[in-house]
Amino acid sequence: MSDKKPVFKPNKEFAKNAAIKNMCEYHELQDKAMEDYEGYWGDAAKEKIDWIEPFTNVLDESKAPFVKWFDGGKLNVAQQCIDRHLDTRKNKAAIIFEGDRGDVQTITYLDLYKNVNRFANLLKEDFGVKKGDRVVIYMPMIPEAAYAMLACARIGAIHSIVFGGFSAEALRDRIDDAEAKVVITADGAFRKEKPYMLKPVVDAALEGKTPVKKVLVVERNHEDVEWVAGRDYSYNELIKDKSAVCEAEVMDAEDPLFLLYTSGSTGKPKGVQHNSAGYILWAQMTMEWVFDVKENDTYWCTADVGWITGHTYIVYGPLAMGATTVMFEGVITFPDAGRPWAMVENHRINQFYTAPTAIRVLHKMGEEEPAKYDMSSLKVLGTVGEPIDPPAWKWYYEEVGQNKCAIVDTYWQTETGGHIVSPLPGATPIKPACATLPLPGIMAEILDPATGERAEVGETGYMCVTRPWPSQIRGVWGDEERYVKSYFGDVKKDGKPVYFTGDGAVYDEDGYITITGRTDDVINVSGHRMGTAEVEAAIKKHANVAEVAVVGKPHPLKGEGIFAYIVLKADEGVADEVEEVKAINNIIKKEIGNIALCDDMIFAPGLPKTRSGKIMRRILRSIAKGEAITQDISTLEDPSVVAKIETMVKG
Ligand code: PRX
Repeated sequence: MSDKKPVFKPNKEFAKNAAIKNMCEYHELQDKAMEDYEGYWGDAAKEKIDWIEPFTNVLDESKAPFVKWFDGGKLNVAQQCIDRHLDTRKNKAAIIFEGDRGDVQTITYLDLYKNVNRFANLLKEDFGVKKGDRVVIYMPMIPEAAYAMLACARIGAIHSIVFGGFSAEALRDRIDDAEAKVVITADGAFRKEKPYMLKPVVDAALEGKTPVKKVLVVERNHEDVEWVAGRDYSYNELIKDKSAVCEAEVMDAEDPLFLLYTSGSTGKPKGVQHNSAGYILWAQMTMEWVFDVKENDTYWCTADVGWITGHTYIVYGPLAMGATTVMFEGVITFPDAGRPWAMVENHRINQFYTAPTAIRVLHKMGEEEPAKYDMSSLKVLGTVGEPIDPPAWKWYYEEVGQNKCAIVDTYWQTETGGHIVSPLPGATPIKPACATLPLPGIMAEILDPATGERAEVGETGYMCVTRPWPSQIRGVWGDEERYVKSYFGDVKKDGKPVYFTGDGAVYDEDGYITITGRTDDVINVSGHRMGTAEVEAAIKKHANVAEVAVVGKPHPLKGEGIFAYIVLKADEGVADEVEEVKAINNIIKKEIGNIALCDDMIFAPGLPKTRSGKIMRRILRSIAKGEAITQDISTLEDPSVVAKIETMVKG
């Protein structure tokens, strides 16, 4: 029997007006990029960006892998996202905000201009924030989070958003690493109609020595919080007398725009640095191509601004192209699993973008819900963050998209800034659960790591990008060596190191790319990257823990769950397993946050190690999955430990 995936051709009516209308147009663009790479990107940058001063050079690779795009060019990303739209879109909704409790706010481009300028003036005048300063943003999903980002961009400060689910310790690490002098936060916000708090987490993160001098607090839920005199200030108060005009800082194309910390296979999270021009160019281009947003469309991405998806596809991409972007404070399954579909109906949403985890949860909790709402406005459905499984894809396509919407399975990462492999909704014939083809201009290729040659059809290889592209990571904050080692150390093509994503992937007979998952020790929990080393470091803080190894295990809703094998110190033993699990999970909560809690914990008699002491994670992964062990275990330091652990896990 053929295991060929079915192919879904783009909707003809839709394709007529799509940004890229057919595969001929796709190939023309891709060929142009191959023939004249700099010409291709130079033309795009000239057309898409409102330069204050034009660039003089497209790409400088002389210090590769440190690269420079659009040298000599001057711009301001906030102007690109706001000011340039004012002539034609002053009264158009830039942001439609829906609060947890159903409260709705429409923010026009003119409102956005004023609000961002006031915010920028506040940061400059009251907090002394200057170009190049780092500002940490620890915020709920409210419009002020977007204002804060754009206000930083307007004055040339570098923002570093920390997801609101991270703990005080995780926040402290990120503040310290970036040496941030300001934190922008909120008292808290609302979740499931109840207030929850963020400010106390900031207070805890700033205890002791800290580079932070001032904290700006947006009062959203108006719950009581502690105010540290001389450090904490109310946004709601300070903003009142600020001017709605703020001159934009003239930024070099390669001035940093933001840092975003993400997990790798080793050590602490890395501060991924994105710079101004290249990032905003690709954010805008992919927004136009992949979501095909038209002038009167309303677009909704359910991510949080604490992740890269929120940066590029809630704030920067949509606003750069002058679109209407929806921001949602709440939980998509509250008050029931019909909430997103009610929002689709109420706001007439045309493009909907979410993670497979969310699709699985909505499917499980509300299979029949989409049919209860008017979903006729939908044109494009997107997925991101993890491989989508065929049943979830089918439900998304049939029930949410009513068999007529294109599903764009967008593959990318924090480091790539924007999509790199994705269908184009008007052009690419789609196969379920397949990211399909590299976007025009992106030299994404699956390589055989041993030879650097293109992987054969059906052979899993390494997902690489063989030429620099404008929105690629520019560095790991404060650690040049880590940047080179983390991304350019594993694969060489024609003898030259190329960017390796950390993911495995496979070509099918049509050259379509399917992502198979991480090849390193990174776990993808609900579409969020979690470094096993980070979770292990947290667990080791428990006084009774001697050794620990953390691996990923398939999870029906989350994609992957976290499975921890823990060896306790000899004389401690496990007095009360339930209590021990609780204590360890509390430490994880404190060190990282709820998103890193373990799904399974086994108190093992030992770990399978080589004689040189290396933990054999592959064996532990197999045991967690319930797979038979195929590796040779005879050379392990103590082979008997494998059977003992297997028995415990099965039990
Ligand atoms: O493993 C890939 C997976 O998510 C990782 C990137 O995570 P992060 O930097 O947090 O960014 C998430 C949002 C872009 C990748 O290395 N991933 C992302 N998109 C897909 C995916 N895996 C399969 N299919 C996708 N569409």
